[in-house]
Amino acid sequence: MSRELRLGVNIDHVATIRNARGGGHPDPVHAAKMAEKAGADGVTAHLREDRRHISDSDIARLMEAIELPLNLEIAATNEMLATALLHKPHAACIVPEKREERTTEGGLDVAGGKATLAPIIGRLKDAGIRVSLFVEPDARQLDAAAELAADIVELHTGRYCDTVAATRDAELRRIIRAAQHAHAAGLECHAGHGLTFDTVGPVAAIGEVVELNIGHFLIGEAIFSGLDSAICRMRALMDQARAMTGAQQSA
Ligand code: PXP
Repeated sequence: MSRELRLGVNIDHVATIRNARGGGHPDPVHAAKMAEKAGADGVTAHLREDRRHISDSDIARLMEAIELPLNLEIAATNEMLATALLHKPHAACIVPEKREERTTEGGLDVAGGKATLAPIIGRLKDAGIRVSLFVEPDARQLDAAAELAADIVELHTGRYCDTVAATRDAELRRIIRAAQHAHAAGLECHAGHGLTFDTVGPVAAIGEVVELNIGHFLIGEAIFSGLDSAICRMRALMDQARAMTGAQQSA
């Protein structure tokens, strides 16, 4: 189990605001550089098929401008595979995508989609791109990810974040069990979706999770406190929760 917990900042919604007016402001690349200075360990961007936020040129500019590793979220399509192979980000996170959805709803059906996913994963890995699969915290999906030799699974925390307080503990336990299962299967374990200052602590405390990817809340919070301050506070909450796990393990 790792003491290290990285923060990947998802900058999609900086582009959402930019695109509302069609100009160049606010620039997601500028946000990525600010995230870098504020203590992020990585930048995440989702190039959606409908290009509703991040654009192809944003990806090209991010690859040029940032030192931090880029985690490029893509759907499992030939177009997105070609884009990833063109830009060669540090990692590609394969997510399910539906045009009509507001955000990524649910995890990828890895178990049911092995035939489609296997060649895509193979091409990405051959190009030296780490492959992550965004899945529900479900052992069947994790076993399928391990069978396909994915490097990473990112556990979908949406249900845990969105549920009412009475069922949140049960959702958290699912994530804990899944993180342990992923780790035992040799998969690097990340988590994300819907995390806020209020929900991040218990997920950050899971020793098997080594990276959290957080976007919407941080960009929203930046309106009130600034991006720098929002990222610093998130980082501090993650570190605090992780330090408690470390103290419990060494006690
Ligand atoms: N991880 C993945 C795979 C995602 O698709 C998203 C949303 O784009 C996130 C993390 C971040 O979710 P949120 O914007 O709710 O923090």
